[in-house]
Amino acid sequence: MGAVQIMEGIYWVGVVDWNLRYFHGYSLSTHRGTTYNAYLIVDDKVTLVDTVYGPFAEMLLKNISEVVDPEKIDYVICNHLESDHSGSLPAVMEKAPGATVYCSPRCEEGLRKYFQKDWDIQVMKTGSELSLGKRTLSFIEAPMLHWPDSMFTYVKEDGLLIPNDAFGQHYASSKRFDDEVDLNIVMEEAAKYYANILYPFSKMVLKKIEELKKMGIPVNMIAPSHGIIWRENIGMIIDQYVQWASGQGRPKVVVAYDTMWHSTEKMAYAIMEGIQAEGVEAQLFRLPLSDHNDIIKEILDGSAILLGSSTIHKEFLPTLAPLLDEIVALKPGNVLGAAFGSYGWSSGAVEAIEEKLSKAKIERPMEALKIKWAPDEQELKQCFDFGKEMAAKVKTR
Ligand code: FEO
Repeated sequence: MGAVQIMEGIYWVGVVDWNLRYFHGYSLSTHRGTTYNAYLIVDDKVTLVDTVYGPFAEMLLKNISEVVDPEKIDYVICNHLESDHSGSLPAVMEKAPGATVYCSPRCEEGLRKYFQKDWDIQVMKTGSELSLGKRTLSFIEAPMLHWPDSMFTYVKEDGLLIPNDAFGQHYASSKRFDDEVDLNIVMEEAAKYYANILYPFSKMVLKKIEELKKMGIPVNMIAPSHGIIWRENIGMIIDQYVQWASGQGRPKVVVAYDTMWHSTEKMAYAIMEGIQAEGVEAQLFRLPLSDHNDIIKEILDGSAILLGSSTIHKEFLPTLAPLLDEIVALKPGNVLGAAFGSYGWSSGAVEAIEEKLSKAKIERPMEALKIKWAPDEQELKQCFDFGKEMAAKVKTR
C-alpha cells in the first residue's frame, strides 16, 4: 500500500510485512505479520523518521516518491539501530547522499559499525531540538525501551510522539489507525509484544512514562514503528503499559506442561480442577503444542504459573526448554510459580524446573508436587489441592 497522510503534511510511508511469522532471532512468533512504520514530514526540511527492514527498501522509496522525490530528503531520524528500522538506510542515503542522519549516541556507534559509510551523523540527546521550518522535532532518549540506543521523536507543533518500538504490535493490516481495526486483536498483539520484548525492562517503562507525564507535553497521536497508530485510544494504551509494567495481572493461573505417558497430564487436569474450584480463571497449555511466546503473553495477563513435566534423564522434557529459557530471560515480575510432575525410576524434573524459576526470580510460595509413576486417587486429590492452594494465593494478592 502507498503513502497515507496521518496529519497535515505528515505521512506514513512504511510497509506491511504480511508474511512474517518469526521475528527477531529471539523466538518471537508473529502470527499476524507486522508492519515497519516510517514517517515522512514535509516541511522546509523534508524529514524521514526511521526506515524499514532492508528487503523492503524499494517499497519504502516508492511510498516516499508518492509524496516527494526521495532525493529531496534533508534529514533522516534513526530512532533505533535494529535492522527492521535502519535496514533501508543505505538505500535512502543513496538517493539523498547529502542528508543528515540524527540519532542517539549509542545508535551512532552502531550505525557507523554496521554500515561503515561516511554519512553525516549528528547525535541528539534528551532535550535536543531540530527545526524543520514550521515544525520542531524534540528528542527523548529511551534506553532499554527496548535497547540502549532507543530514542523517541516528538513533533512539538502536532503533539505527535514517534516512540519507535514502544507501544508497537506485530499486526499486519491494510488500515493504519486504532479506530479502524478490531481493538481486541490489536491489544492482544500489544500484550504479546510487551511480554516478549519489554517485560524485563518494566521498571524503565514506568520511569519513562512518568518522565513523559512530568514533561506535560500534549500527545495527540502515538505513531510506533510496528502495527497500528494510536489516535483514539492513547490514554488506554499508556494506562495498559503502566498496568503491565507494574505487574498488575488478573487473578489467573497458567498451567503449562508436557507429559511422556500422560501421568503428568492427569496431574495437570486435576490441578486445573482445583484452581477452578476456588473460582479462579485457569488456562492450560501443553508443550510443544502451544506457542511459548503466546504462553508468555498469558503469564503477563495473569498472576501465577504452574509448570509441569515428566522426568527424563533426571531433567524436564526438552519441549519445556524454550518456555523456561524465555521465562528466565524475561523475568516476569510479580508472578507466583510452582513446579509439578511425575517420575518413574528417578526424579529430577521438578527440581530442574524450580531451578529455572529461581533464576527467573519468580516467587515460589508452595512446595513442588511430584508423584511416582501414575497418580492414584489420593494423589489426584493432592493435585487438586495443589491447584486450589495456588488459586487461593492468587485471590488474596
Ligand atoms: Fe527493536 Fe522493531 O526493533
